[in-house]
Amino acid sequence: MQRNSAQKLVNDDHHDTMSDEVFRGFQRIALEQTGIELADGKRAMIVNRFSRRLGALGLSCFEEYLKVVAQPGHPEASEFIDTVTTNLTYFYREPHHFEVLKNTVLPAIAKRVTAPTPIRIWSAGCSSGAEPYTLAIVANETAQVKDRPVRILCTDIDTKMVESTHQGRYTAEQLRGLNDERKKLWFSPTASGRYQADEKLRSLLICKQLNLFDSWPIKNEVDVIMCRNVLIYFNPSYQKKLLQGFAKVQKPGAYLFLGHSETLEGFSDTYRRIDNTVYERI
Ligand SMILES: C[S@@+](CC[C@H](N)C(=O)[O-])C[C@H]1O[C@@H](n2cnc3c(N)ncnc32)[C@H](O)[C@@H]1O
Repeated sequence: MQRNSAQKLVNDDHHDTMSDEVFRGFQRIALEQTGIELADGKRAMIVNRFSRRLGALGLSCFEEYLKVVAQPGHPEASEFIDTVTTNLTYFYREPHHFEVLKNTVLPAIAKRVTAPTPIRIWSAGCSSGAEPYTLAIVANETAQVKDRPVRILCTDIDTKMVESTHQGRYTAEQLRGLNDERKKLWFSPTASGRYQADEKLRSLLICKQLNLFDSWPIKNEVDVIMCRNVLIYFNPSYQKKLLQGFAKVQKPGAYLFLGHSETLEGFSDTYRRIDNTVYERI
């Protein structure tokens, strides 16, 4: 008990001792390693999250932690990245996208891509998997692609998120975006009180850890890219680099979905807008 109080005091001390210079150091490393712009307003959150890492590593101040994460290839690098990422996600987030997918995008792709070539979808920044599992459900509910091979590449920089996507096991709270019918059809309750995604959905997913600013494991053209609520964390030059990269792995007639607060402005010669934050490669 006494130790906990002492530890708490040390942690509270840390809250006061992240200097501007050290915070700028973390901002620089986050940008270099992930493209993520840690806004000044995120400082309290960063102090809070990094305090836990100081405790775990037995370090006494943020400056020491900065020195650790500044070392190229240090094992703490992935913990650092997992700590700076924001993983908010849920099933059927921005539901309008899944209507467009079912009614317009997937039927058009099904006409263009001839079987047995699979329909290739990429959930870029998949977080814990709500987005790719929603995609898998929609693919199963779309008559034109239901019985066709579909591959959904699920990537995220955060290793824990990729693992969670691969597992496909969620709490009832995480499944709140699903109606009862879909929940019953696609998820089975487990002994631990969680819900396990059906193998028919899981078998469509290929899960890989990937920093979007490293080289991509993509050999074939991607028919649909969903990169939603990811660009907003990057600075404009990283956003531009990423969007140029997407254009290179898509053929005319392929589709790109961004989050509703993101835009393709300035890329009008490579994509045309077909719906709210839905674009077609031209
Ligand atoms: C807010 S979540 C969005 C999840 C999902 N796309 C959605 O809209 O619900 C953003 C995800 O982007 C991932 N991310 C951030 N920087 C990344 C990078 N450089 N490369 C790959 N993924 C990244 C984060 O780990 C996080 O899981």
